[in-house]
Amino acid sequence: MIPGDGIGKEVVPEGLRVLEAAGRRFELSFSWEHFDWSCETYLKTGKMMPDGGLEQLRSFDAIFLGAVGYPGVPDHVSLWGLLIPIRRGFEQYVNLRPVRLLKGIETPLKNFEPGQIDFCVVRENNEGEYSDVGGRIFRGTDEELVMQESIFTRRGVDRILRYAFQLARKRRSHVTSATKSNGIIHTMPYWDERFRVIAQEFPGVRTDQYHIDILTAHFVRHPDWFDVVVGSNLFGDILSDLGPAVTGSIGIAPSANLNPERKYPSMFEPVHGSAPDIAGKGIANPIGQIWSGAMMLRHIGEEQAAEAVEKAIEAVLADPKSRTADIGGNAKTEDVGKAIAGKLAG
Ligand code: NAI
Ligand code: MG
Repeated sequence: MIPGDGIGKEVVPEGLRVLEAAGRRFELSFSWEHFDWSCETYLKTGKMMPDGGLEQLRSFDAIFLGAVGYPGVPDHVSLWGLLIPIRRGFEQYVNLRPVRLLKGIETPLKNFEPGQIDFCVVRENNEGEYSDVGGRIFRGTDEELVMQESIFTRRGVDRILRYAFQLARKRRSHVTSATKSNGIIHTMPYWDERFRVIAQEFPGVRTDQYHIDILTAHFVRHPDWFDVVVGSNLFGDILSDLGPAVTGSIGIAPSANLNPERKYPSMFEPVHGSAPDIAGKGIANPIGQIWSGAMMLRHIGEEQAAEAVEKAIEAVLADPKSRTADIGGNAKTEDVGKAIAGKLAG
C-alpha cells in the first residue's frame, strides 16, 4: 500500500477497512506492507521512491495506491518519479477504468437513469504520447526549439487493442476506438490500421471509431452508446476523467493498471488525484479507492468478494446520509468507509 499525498492518505485507510471487512466475510486474509513514498518523502530525500524501489515492489501480488501530488512539488516530478516508473517497469500496459451510473448518484446529464450508462475506458498505459523522447535546444533565446515525440509500437498497440476486444467479449461485444487520424497523420492512421487488423480476430465484436473531439461530445450526449472504449495514453487519460464526470463524480471513479500476463504486480488506484483543495478536512469521497479495492479482489481471483464490495457501495450510495459533499451529502470520509464495511458484515 502506497497512500501517497493529500486525500490519498485519507481514502486508503477506508479502502483497507472495506477490504478487511470483505476478507472477514469471504475468509481471505491480507498482509499489507506500507510504503511512505510521496511528495513529502521527495522533499526530505529528493526521491519519490528510493533507488531499487521497483525491486522492493516486485514480489507483491498487487499494489494499492492512493494518489500523489502536492503543491510545491511539480506534477511531472510526482508522476515521472513514481507512477510512470511503476506502470512501465511492471508492464502495466492496460489502464482499465469502469464508468457506471450508480443509484444514488445524480448525473449532470438529463434523461439518464442508473443502468443506462455502463462502459469501460481502456487506456494504453505504457507508451504513446507520454514519452520522454524529445528535448529543448537554444534555451531562453528567440530560437528556442522544443520537441516531444510520441511512440507507437506494433507490440504496444496490438496488445492494448486485443485486451479491449477480449474485455468486450465478456460484456456487450462492442468496441469503440478513439482516434485523430485526420490531424495526427502518422501515429493515428497506424492505430486505425491495427484496429482493423485486430478486429478481424474477433468477428463477433461490433466496432466503431470516432475522432477524439467528437467522441468527447458523444460521451456527454450519448454515454449509453458505449461498451468498451479504447484509446492511446493521452486520449484514454482525457476520456477517463470525462467518463466519471458524466456519471456524477470523479470521487467514485476506480482504476486498475494491469499487467495481464501477471509477470509483475498490477496496481489499483482511484482516478482522482490528491485533491489539495480538500485535503485534511476528512470530507474526501473514499468510494473511488474502495471500488479500486474491488477491482484488486477481482484481479487476484476473488470475484465473489469483488461483487460483494460493489454491491455494498451501491447499497450505501442509495442512502443520502452516507454521501460525501461532492455528491451532495455531508458525510465524512470515515462514515462512508464504515457504512460500506458494515454492509459487508451482513
Ligand atoms: P484531483 O483529482 O486531485 O482534484 C480535482 C477536483 O476533484 C478537486 O476539486 C478535488 O477536490 C475533487 N476531488 C478529487 N477527488 C475527490 C474525492 N475523492 N472526493 C471529493 N472530491 C474529490 O485533480 P487535480 O486538482 O488536477 O490534481 C491535484 C494533484 O493531484 C496534482 O498534484 C496532480 O498532479 C495530482 N494527481 C495525481 C494523480 C494520481 O496520483 N494518480 C491523478 C491526478 C492528479
Ligand atoms: Mg488523468
